[in-house]
Formats: sequence, structure tokens, C-alpha cells
Amino acid sequence: MSTTTRENWTSKRNFILAAAGSAVGLGNIWKFPYIAGENGGAAFLIIYVICILMIGIPILNLEILLGRETQKNPVGAFKQLSTNPLWQYVGGLGVVASFTILSFYSVVGGWSIAYMLEAINGTFKGFENPQVAGEFFNLKNSNANWVLGFHTLFFLITVGIILSGVRKGLEKVSRYLMPLLLLILFFLVFQGLFLPESEKGLEFLFAPDWSKINAQTFLLALGHAFFTLSLGMGAMMTYGSYLSKKDDIVHASNIIAFLDTFIAILAGVAIFTVVFSSGYSPTAGPGLVFHVLPPLLAKLPLGYIMSIMFFLLLSIAAITSAISILEVSVAYLMDEFSFSRKRATSIMSIAVYLAAIPCALSFNVLSDVTLNIGAKPYTIFDIFDYLASNIYLPLGGFFIALFVGHAWGVDKAIKGLLMGDSNNSRFGNSIFKNATVVSVFGFLVKFISPLLIFLVFLYQFGLI
Ligand code: PHE
Repeated sequence: MSTTTRENWTSKRNFILAAAGSAVGLGNIWKFPYIAGENGGAAFLIIYVICILMIGIPILNLEILLGRETQKNPVGAFKQLSTNPLWQYVGGLGVVASFTILSFYSVVGGWSIAYMLEAINGTFKGFENPQVAGEFFNLKNSNANWVLGFHTLFFLITVGIILSGVRKGLEKVSRYLMPLLLLILFFLVFQGLFLPESEKGLEFLFAPDWSKINAQTFLLALGHAFFTLSLGMGAMMTYGSYLSKKDDIVHASNIIAFLDTFIAILAGVAIFTVVFSSGYSPTAGPGLVFHVLPPLLAKLPLGYIMSIMFFLLLSIAAITSAISILEVSVAYLMDEFSFSRKRATSIMSIAVYLAAIPCALSFNVLSDVTLNIGAKPYTIFDIFDYLASNIYLPLGGFFIALFVGHAWGVDKAIKGLLMGDSNNSRFGNSIFKNATVVSVFGFLVKFISPLLIFLVFLYQFGLI
């Protein structure tokens, strides 16, 4: 299929569900709770929400807009909007980022499916405590075939959806799975709130510990804001490229950002109420979900069902995001080289699959291959995660803000954002009819976003 027959979403509602499906992922359920846990709970939450409001939402609007304006993948979008070929590299960076993220993402996605099957098997009942569960996790991961096998299964599901196209694949999956995800999450939160001492979990999430806040926290919060909203690598641009001009981007972005933040907080509530009511410490790093939770979930009144639901939730979140990551590279090949969807998907998935193998092996065969960043040894898996969240995505966001603010022009962006029916005066695009909103937006895009991201980079490389 070539660009002339570009598919599009059937409705704005379905676009929102697909984009929210992209945003709501492992970042919300696997990453957010442990990052918040290790960095001061609510104090982190506040900084994170500020990053979402000041940088995340403006860039989300811009990405969707650049996609819709050009009806192109990130590389093609920049090519169309600017005569300076350098900007295309920003789109190219997105394609590289999509490789990097999917490499570690599909490993965690594979774990989620594996754990859902273990939950169905009733394995978690046998875990005395999180330590035993941790040993089980490490033992499983020491087997390269186990990790590679589930990673491959997760990958095949992702590829299958992409092959079905925008309407029959991306849209359909999100339309059914996102409401299911919310339903499961509500159920888990509801159950969590009724556990003894659940208020300790809430206090942990909602009472700020400012002593844990330092410059590093800002870096994490900003990196996570990009990661969780799927920004900086063209995923939202690609999804925006399947959107029609009559849809209100501002309204859609507000809903997507709200849903994403709301779901991350709900996931935090679901997880911390269980952890605290069992008397455990939440600062367990990335293992929180795979070490600490399984035995605790299994001991709950509806433990068997709860465990299955939790890992089903995690798998759904991972799949609806992974498809948006792969779609960036597939759209790139389809638009730029006029490949059919089938051909583009086959080429890209083989390439990404191969790139992901070292990540899967970093828990066993390649576990000794590490790089010290600061004082901490990073495995290949950690490096891919670090590169994506802390470098590629913020860098992509930096250039997108710079492009709109200083090359393409904020007034063109505002004009574009005002296009599309708005029947919502508070959260829709008619807020851009207000001169103050327009100047605040312009100021954020032109100066604040690039400056803050730049400062975070300087800090990251030890330059300030
Ligand atoms: N937003 C997804 C999550 O939170 C991850 C993602 C990043 C998806 C970048 C697409 C692009 O898990």
C-alpha cells in the first residue's frame, strides 16, 4: 500500500483510544510506581505532573499536529515541512529510538505474558515471600530460552497486529483492550483500598517526602514524562498522521494526557495498597512488579483471580504500546520507500527482533557485559532503557520544540491546532482563541521546553 491510499482512524474517539493505548504502557504500571517509590512518592508525583503540564502536553499537541499536517511518518513529516535536510535526522532519531525501546520493551512484555500464564498455573500460591519470588524470577531469567521464547511470543503478537493495518489492527485492539484495562485496574484499586492498612500505601503515594528530591529527580521526572506520553520518537506523530483535519487535537491531547496520568496513579494505588498492607517496602526497583507483587497478590482474598488480572493488565498495556513503537518504523518504510505494509513490517520486525536479542540475553548469557554509568553497572537491557528514556526521547522532544518554535513557526502551529471542530471550550482547541493561552503556549514551546530539556542534559553529562 502506498501513501496515496493512506489509512485513517474511523473516528476521533478511536484515535484517542489508540493514542492512549500507546501512552498507557509498561511505563505506567511497571516503571512509574517504582520510580515514584524510590524518589519521594508524592514529591516526585508533583514534579512529574509539572513536567507533563509544561512540556509533555505542549509537545504531545505538536507531535500529533505535525503528523496530521503532513500525513507522514516522522522522517517524511520533517522533509515535507522544511527545506533544511538536517531536520529529517530528528525523524531518523525516532526510528532509531523505536528500535531501542522495543528491544527492552518486548522483553518485559514477554515477562508479563509468562507471569500471566504462571498466575493461571497457580505458581504464585507457592511463594512464601517476595524473596522466594525474586529467586524464581532470577532462576527463570537465567534460562536464555525462557526469556527468548516469551520475548518472541510477545513480538509475534505485536507484529500480527501491525500486519492487520490501522483500522483492523491498531484501532481494533485498542478499542477493545483499553476499556478492559481500565475495568481491571478499577477492580484492583477497589480491592486494594479495602485491605488493612491500605492508607499507608496511599500516604506513601500522596504524602510528599521532599528530602528525596534532588537534580536527579528532575531528570527522571522529565525522562519519564516523555516515555509515558510516548513522546520524542514520532509515535504520536505517526498516529497523528492517520487523523483527519476535522478532529480537535487539543481536546484529544488533553484526554490522552489525563488518562495516562490517571492510570499511572491508579496503578500506584493498586500496587502500594497491596505492598503496604503486607508490610513490605516499596523501594524494590524494577523488580517491584515481578518480585514483590506475585506472592502478595496470591495471598489476597481473591488472590488467584487478582494475580491473573494484574498480569493480564500488564500484558495489555505492553501490547497496545508496543504496536505504536513498531508502527513508527513500519510507516517510515511504507511512506519513504513505497513498501507494502506486509513488506515493511517483515523487514522492520526482523531487524528489531535481532536488535532485541542482546537485551533478552542480558539476564543470562550476557549478564557480565556491563557499562558503568555513575557508580552503577548497567547491563545491555539497562543501557537500552537509559538511552531511550534519558537521551533519545528528551532529545527528540527538544528538537520538535525547537523546530516548531524557531523553524516552522508557532503561529502555523496555533493555526493548525485551531483546525477541527471544537465543542469544548475548556479542554478543546477553542482555548487557543484566548490571547493569553496562545502566548503562554508560544513561550513554553519556544523557550521553556527546550531550555529545561537542555539543562537536564547538561546536568546528566555532569556539565552543571
Ligand atoms: N508510553 C509507553 C509506556 O508508558 C512507552 C512508549 C514510549 C510507547 C515511546 C511509544 C513510544 O509504556
